[in-house]
Amino acid sequence: MKRFILLTCFTAITVLSCNKKNNDTVTIKDDAVITTSAILNLPNDPYNYANESYPSHIQSIISAFDNTPLNNPITNHGATLGRVLFYDKSLSLSKTVSCASCHKQEIGFSDSKIKSLGHAGGTTRRNSMPLLNLRFYRSGKMFWDERATTLEEQVLLPIQDNIEMGLTLDSLIHRLNKTNYYASLFNNAFGSTEITADRISKALAQFLRSIVTYRSKYDKVQQGMATYTPQEEEGQMFFNSTGPLGACADCHAGGAVTNHFQQAVIPIKNPADFFNTNDLGVFEATQNPDDSAKFKIPSLRNVPMTAPYMHNGAVATLDNLFNSNYHKFQLSAIQKQNIIAYLHALTDEEITRDVRFSNPFK
Ligand code: HEC
Ligand code: HEC
Repeated sequence: MKRFILLTCFTAITVLSCNKKNNDTVTIKDDAVITTSAILNLPNDPYNYANESYPSHIQSIISAFDNTPLNNPITNHGATLGRVLFYDKSLSLSKTVSCASCHKQEIGFSDSKIKSLGHAGGTTRRNSMPLLNLRFYRSGKMFWDERATTLEEQVLLPIQDNIEMGLTLDSLIHRLNKTNYYASLFNNAFGSTEITADRISKALAQFLRSIVTYRSKYDKVQQGMATYTPQEEEGQMFFNSTGPLGACADCHAGGAVTNHFQQAVIPIKNPADFFNTNDLGVFEATQNPDDSAKFKIPSLRNVPMTAPYMHNGAVATLDNLFNSNYHKFQLSAIQKQNIIAYLHALTDEEITRDVRFSNPFK
């Protein structure tokens, strides 16, 4: 194990004050010793991100929908650097917030808050999004309003957002240059120790593209290794059926394997019901009136764990969703149960425990 000890302070009093160099967690013990430490723990050989052997139904989605640009293929060292950046709180001005603060692995890289807390205690405008299967959104556009045209562009925006992380890229680069472990991580990933915004962006994008769900019951059924319960089976049929009530798959395409439908849409049948002048969705990015009230269609993979829902976080549970104004489905109680059972079958629990995507700072 390579271990980098960032900072350890010992003091005999209860209130600690020391120059924090990084995202230390302050463990306050009852008396005497207060230890502040953040140790970066990485395997000697990087984990496998680049050559995961996905089942064939996932491989074919990769062939058809992957938004990986030619100049930024996933490498094991690149994704490793991306992982460290993702969990490093020095990416925020106050060093209190990392990407993972609002995108938590244990809940599908989403946040359980309606609006997330930024580096200075402010709240985000919209609900945080799960970061699963981002590579399958063929158009590559990111955010609820699709204002970022690529993942590489997107990953630098939260850093510079005043509410979220509040740093300029110059000050970030300056910080990383003064942090002992980054030189070797950049060298391994890109062949020299130089730290640039472009390299930060590429590494974060590689890490995020490697987060793919493929170990759910749905995936096992695809491989002939499991069968659905009658309830899940009903749910799937309803999900894929056409007609006024079903037709989830019209928008949540590909059997909800992923969000690879290539356009934002108005999520309900009557756009007037969804028109909210506080948030005009894609219109805000394009200024095209046709885009008013359109939002990116989220992946339904792992959706039981990513509550609350919708761009504004206004819907607390799946059960509420199917009663709400957002999705005017008026599903019967049975239909709701079936759909929810199917959504559970689409959930890959292992992604929430996969060490490759976990916090490397211990
Ligand atoms: C303070 C909370 C917060 C922090 C910190 C944060 N995010 Fe987010 N993230 C959000 C919110 C909220 C959204 C949705 C914003 C919107 O659509 O306007 C989002 C959206 C995203 C998306 C879009 C996903 C999609 O499907 O379109 C990506 C990718 C993402 N964040 C990655 C990151 C990365 C990488 C970092 C760290 C550099 C980061 N986030 C830091 C809250 C946060
Ligand atoms: C007309 C296209 C469309 C149809 C049909 C549709 N959805 Fe959606 N769905 C969306 C959009 C767009 C959003 C995001 C809306 C927002 O954030 O305001 C969404 C959001 C969701 C969410 C919340 C996801 C999250 O992360 O917040 C769930 C769950 C969901 N839909 C399930 C379903 C189910 C189940 C069906 C079928 C009964 C269905 N949807 C039919 C477009 C659609």
